[in-house]
Amino acid sequence: MVNTKGGNIPKLAMTTFCMAVFAMMFYVANASDPTPLQDFCVGVNDPNSAVVVNGRLCKNPNDVTINDFLYKRFNVPGDTNNAQGANATLVDINLFLGVNTQGVAMARVDFAPYGLNTPHLHPRGSEIFAVVEGTMYAGFVTSGYKLYDTILKKGDVIVFPQGLIHFQLNLGRTEALAYASFGSQNPGRVNVADSVFATTPRILNDVLTKGFQVDEVVIEQLRSQFSPENISFNTGRSILKLLSQTF
Ligand SMILES: *[C@@H]1O[C@H](CO)[C@@H](O)[C@H](O)[C@H]1NC(C)=O
Ligand SMILES: *[C@@H]1O[C@H](CO)[C@@H](O)[C@H](O)[C@H]1NC(C)=O
Repeated sequence: MVNTKGGNIPKLAMTTFCMAVFAMMFYVANASDPTPLQDFCVGVNDPNSAVVVNGRLCKNPNDVTINDFLYKRFNVPGDTNNAQGANATLVDINLFLGVNTQGVAMARVDFAPYGLNTPHLHPRGSEIFAVVEGTMYAGFVTSGYKLYDTILKKGDVIVFPQGLIHFQLNLGRTEALAYASFGSQNPGRVNVADSVFATTPRILNDVLTKGFQVDEVVIEQLRSQFSPENISFNTGRSILKLLSQTF
């Protein structure tokens, strides 16, 4: 259709284009938990007693009491008798249904002397971390591989940006303690070592030898440190071996 006088079709196209540009200018990426659609929504595990859905199923408000908003075990230390000498107890939606739809969670991190809260990240939440007892070396790494690190003392608070790998190492010969808060009811936790060396099923050795530029012995040694499953040297699957046998 030819339109010589700048008629309806070009005008419509122009209007649509302008509206799209306008919309893009004011578009703000929103990666946090959804805004609550009512005062509260205490989670329930039994779907039969649920009446409203917003995130987790909501408990019937008529059945909600003050106890649904209380978690009373935050004073209980995690067991630090493990290889790293630290234990992070994440009080999130999985442990405390009262946080459902509220966009918050907490953690207490207990450190044995010289214990390490191993390098990890939280895919869905920013973290604010307060040292309650002890002195620690802490840091995080940006997506450009820049390390921001520092020594934290009792009373210091640090922010770990969402999704960035971070860690804390107790520098003291006594136990240390920190409290952390998250801007998500379910921030998640991904340990760097486990996500490479303790996956189910195992990542192919060909991927890890090439990725880390070391031979299989080193990969198996690292696996044996992190994987809870029975590690036998010969069980590693190898696509390259398979292909070399096929072709
Ligand atoms: C952390 O502490 C809890 C409670 O004592 C325990 O069940 C859990 O196994 C500990 N985690 C690690 C990694 O030691
Ligand atoms: C580990 O695997 C070996 C060889 O398959 C087997 O003999 C052994 O019983 C296994 N150990 C455990 C703890 O599963």
